[in-house]
Amino acid sequence: MSVHETEVVVIGGGAAGLFCAIEGGKRGRKVVVLDHSERIGKKIAISGGGRCNFTNRYAAPENFISRNPHFCKSALSRYTPADFITLVEKHGIAYHEKKLGQLFCDNGSQQIIDLLLKECRDAEVEIVCNSLVRSVARNKRFAVEVGKKTIIAESLVIATGGLSIAPLGASDFGYRIARQFNLQIEDPAPALVPFILDAETLRRFGPLSGMAIDAEVSCRGQRFRENVLITHRGLSGPAVLQISSYWKAGDAIKINLLPDENALEVLRDGQDREIELANFLSRFVPRRFARAWCELHTRSKPFKQYTPGELAAIGAKLNSWEIVPAGTEGYRKAEVTVGGVSTAELSSQTMEAKRVPGLYFIGEVVDVTGQLGGYNFQWAWSSGFAAGRSV
Ligand code: FDA
Repeated sequence: MSVHETEVVVIGGGAAGLFCAIEGGKRGRKVVVLDHSERIGKKIAISGGGRCNFTNRYAAPENFISRNPHFCKSALSRYTPADFITLVEKHGIAYHEKKLGQLFCDNGSQQIIDLLLKECRDAEVEIVCNSLVRSVARNKRFAVEVGKKTIIAESLVIATGGLSIAPLGASDFGYRIARQFNLQIEDPAPALVPFILDAETLRRFGPLSGMAIDAEVSCRGQRFRENVLITHRGLSGPAVLQISSYWKAGDAIKINLLPDENALEVLRDGQDREIELANFLSRFVPRRFARAWCELHTRSKPFKQYTPGELAAIGAKLNSWEIVPAGTEGYRKAEVTVGGVSTAELSSQTMEAKRVPGLYFIGEVVDVTGQLGGYNFQWAWSSGFAAGRSV
């Protein structure tokens, strides 16, 4: 067993780990990044549909989910979206705003990986892939056993991300290290994830798979207005992914199918018509969806024949259609993991464990999760920067 000495070991070569290594390296620290995958930045590569939604211009603490909503403020204010945009521009990477402040590369995510690798080279960061960490121990310094080597370092940074999408390198390593040092963990759960529907609802809507509807989805006091996408297993699309991060098993979600209208008034105004209700509703939602929805909720008859009571019930349902999802598609399809290492254990200034000097947690492994739209990478950059300034 050979022994190597360094100053900082970062475990996990994703967005947060590499960014922390760069900042540490720039301060003259000797930094080694270990990743068990054969290459770094796999999630960056496939992110944003291959164009990496690398930040959000308007990222603010309200866009993050955490038991302590104030925790992210310090790191986000010390390394802001504008700071990352400056770095992107310094590397000559062309980008565009898609919507709602979401910034994407014009020419593919690899440019962000190349940016990080170039910055790592300039800061003399050593990156070692295919590194299976066997154990971590702490005496005065940390001893990290990797293969037949032991690496000794003053600072150890855990940047191994959450549990989402194992084939991209996800593991529970970060949580295991937290437990080893008796640090509290908020229960992890899949987030930004599609819902699965019960068999009866799916029988009616599954055949419409691929159809998108502009709607407002709400749950637990949160609401998102964007597309809802019908899938062959349930519901997806931006509005559904967003609400899934707040949803707990057994919760109903509410879908407002006419988010710009008082549905009852719309129904009353249109009721003098001979047409069927589904045909009338197809002015607002796709025709096939209107038909399936009406079949689920009401007996098909000419619009005129509905009683005021029936109309009131249908109006209420159109503005607030309650569905209890049977579950989610799980970590296999989740973009991120909510929960993680409790922020109560960490300094919000440096991300260092309060009770274990020299041990840091950054990025998605921490109980800070961004909404959809570039916020998760911004948290990776900001938390990585905070730790990189301290290691
Ligand atoms: P990340 O998961 O990126 O990196 C962790 C690293 O640790 C990996 O390289 C892994 O191999 C390594 N590792 C894990 N266990 C290890 C172990 N035991 N030993 C050694 N190494 C280990 N966000 C966003 O803001 N904009 C977007 O466009 C997208 N798009 C997107 C698409 C898809 C399909 C997914 C799955 C996710 C996104 N995200 C996103 C979320 C974003 O990718 C995610 O939040 C960040 O990558 C988290 O960065 P981290 O560095 O914390 O973990």
